[in-house]
Amino acid sequence: MSKQKVILSENLEKILSEAVACCPHDKLFVLTDETTLQLCWPEVAEMDCVRGAGMITIGATDENKTLESLSHVWTALQQGGATRHSLMICLGGGMVTDLGGFAASTFKRGIAYINIPTTLLSMVDASVGGKTGINFGGLKNEIGVFNCAREVIIDTKFLHTLDYQNLASGYAEMLKHGLISNEAHWAELLRFDLADVDYRLLGQLVEKSVAVKERIVEADPEEHGIRKALNLGHTVGHAFESLALEEHRTVLHGYAVAWGIVCELYLSTVRTGFPKDKFRQTVQFIKDNYGVFVFDCKQYARLYELMTHDKKNTSGEVNFTLLGGIGDIRINQTATRDEIYEMLDFYRESMGC
Ligand code: GLY
Repeated sequence: MSKQKVILSENLEKILSEAVACCPHDKLFVLTDETTLQLCWPEVAEMDCVRGAGMITIGATDENKTLESLSHVWTALQQGGATRHSLMICLGGGMVTDLGGFAASTFKRGIAYINIPTTLLSMVDASVGGKTGINFGGLKNEIGVFNCAREVIIDTKFLHTLDYQNLASGYAEMLKHGLISNEAHWAELLRFDLADVDYRLLGQLVEKSVAVKERIVEADPEEHGIRKALNLGHTVGHAFESLALEEHRTVLHGYAVAWGIVCELYLSTVRTGFPKDKFRQTVQFIKDNYGVFVFDCKQYARLYELMTHDKKNTSGEVNFTLLGGIGDIRINQTATRDEIYEMLDFYRESMGC
């Protein structure tokens, strides 16, 4: 996988024009979702570099990260006359950049694509690092490939289009980056007031967060080793998300990750000596800002089963990324079913559900 160019832009038109010019193409397409089409596309629509582009729009939210939406994109590319030399711009949140990246990577064995993430989650995580895919068979990101966008252009002006939930969702991935990087970054993230956003400060934190992700992806692009650090909170988080999907409950990805972090930091205190004071401070921040995902002990078996489907598992054991401290990453940790049930007990008691 080639190294990806990630640019923090203060002049989207200039940066996008240069990016499009750097990718010689016969036809240009822009993929958005229904929400982004309304809120973000108007910022881009008037630019010369996208004039005449074929527009493709899919439904918003993770429920639409499906084979049907993917098929819609492939069909639109085919009917729009796309060739192997066409270029697609994915303008949107993680759903659009993941699904669009996969559509581009597979259409005629792969066309070039550029990501313009418009949500915090996509800026700091989804659009960076070449993971693309869709949900399938009730499991998150079950089908996909590693294939980097030619460029990722991050313009934090789009953050103003987000409501509290979408900001908080992306912020959970930033919190994860703080936990796996260093104490100073973790501490400044816990001081940030999500209820009264200072966008200038948020922009600076986004830059640091993207740098954490880029550093890790560069060291291990296809997740054979250290990239698993980015899975902190995700083994449990994906199980929460899949359960929510089955029960038609709406849960944003970052919320599930935040609750997953509570669980996996608990395991870290038990298994790898994560300091209790830092654990308590992190859990308090998550409780204050994310509320709680409610489930009862009758759902433990299903949650456990969902964890056993995780892509990161080997030989039937549930694989976790744990921490020995902030920045002290322990990949390839396992836990028994009893330990996982205990972790879920702890979660319910401490979060009050
Ligand atoms: N979202 C985790 C990763 O990109 O590896």
